[in-house]
Amino acid sequence: MKGAVDLDILIPEAKLSARVLELGSEISHVFRGGEPPVMVCVLKGSVVFLADLVRAMDIDVNVDFMSISSYSESRSSSGVVRIVKDLETDLTGRDVLIVEDIVDTGLTLHYLRRTLSARDPASLRTVTLLDKAVRRIIPVELEWSGFEIPDTFVLGYGLDHEGLYRNVSDLIVVPDIAHLVAEPRMYVAPLWPNAAPT
Ligand code: PRP
Repeated sequence: MKGAVDLDILIPEAKLSARVLELGSEISHVFRGGEPPVMVCVLKGSVVFLADLVRAMDIDVNVDFMSISSYSESRSSSGVVRIVKDLETDLTGRDVLIVEDIVDTGLTLHYLRRTLSARDPASLRTVTLLDKAVRRIIPVELEWSGFEIPDTFVLGYGLDHEGLYRNVSDLIVVPDIAHLVAEPRMYVAPLWPNAAPT
């Protein structure tokens, strides 16, 4: 298998990092002079983006984490989600920024915006690194978006398949999803030749 799998990079690390720097600067500009915004990281995929984004900002911020899950396998079509881990921060009167790695159908973000706006924040905005706009089922407001991407399956920079590949620095596109489903570790050896075999 080793060496037999080509890695197709959709967005290389350097381009991701340049765009994150721009976003950090634009977002800092909007919040400068006010209370520190609460940056709400939606686990788990957004952690890599959040970690880079906060360090690209030159204002003080608060960070909090939220984990949501579907009631069933059908979240992508139903949008019915539940909170697995809630925020620890009281959002009342705060400027809130939802940090997402990807917006696809929009159902997750729609739910989040509705849920968080019910907590009386002073403002509620969203930044997403990736916007798969062609897949949208429900329109959602995106104040900042890093890249609009086509309807392809992507991995890396926080995005996973079966929990793997979040620690890849580039954004990789998967041309053959059936192959990945059959062989979830197919990219491990090409990415990390020294990874222990399983
Ligand atoms: C991703 C992403 C969003 C959601 C977007 O999370 O982080 O929360 O999907 O999809 P939607 O617009 O179709 O609702 P995922 O379910 O992959 O969880 P993870 O971040 O823990 O991997």
